[in-house]
Amino acid sequence: YGDASQKIDYVFKVVLIGDSAVGKSQILSRFARNEFSLDSKATIGVEFQTRTLVIQHKSVKAQIWDTAGQERYRAVTSAYYRGAVGAMLVYDITKRTTFDHIPRWLDELRAHADKNIVIILIGNKTDLGDQRAVPTEDAKEFAQKEGLFFLETSALEATNVEEAFLTVLTEIF
Ligand code: GTP
Ligand code: MG
Repeated sequence: YGDASQKIDYVFKVVLIGDSAVGKSQILSRFARNEFSLDSKATIGVEFQTRTLVIQHKSVKAQIWDTAGQERYRAVTSAYYRGAVGAMLVYDITKRTTFDHIPRWLDELRAHADKNIVIILIGNKTDLGDQRAVPTEDAKEFAQKEGLFFLETSALEATNVEEAFLTVLTEIF
């Protein structure tokens, strides 16, 4: 694949969800602009960024939506999920509670999104491996049980971010 600049064959909406501070906005920033910031501010409302890629000889515009993990800053749920064909469910491998909340996020997703939505579970911040609180195996097992794709990423080190988006976008295809 590569970057395309001309005709768009498909536009795919993908949503990011998960607790506050797990790294959703930085994963998006890494994917869309290849940028990362350590002093990222909590998201308020909804933001989105796009990136156009070529997948199987078609140009695909990925429109990635990002909202606040914090309840009080969140956007209207139904509008956020409307039309989404992919979802990235993110937790922080160093914070067990963010993984424990994944079933709740999954419930919300399943209640509001299309039933054919492609979902990937993402354990972010693998660069902080010495502070790991969620074993890879636990997440893998959960993902398998729920029928989700699964990858661990580091937005900081740019590990698996591209792969995570490509997994979702290719599967939607
Ligand atoms: P909300 O907008 O409040 O829902 O949070 P968020 O999930 O968007 O988190 P955000 O991307 O703002 O990142 C929160 C903090 O984690 C920031 O200080 C980021 O720099 C940091 N961070 C994000 N990804 C990584 C990563 O892969 N490794 C490390 N070490 N820090 C990260
Ligand atoms: Mg954010």
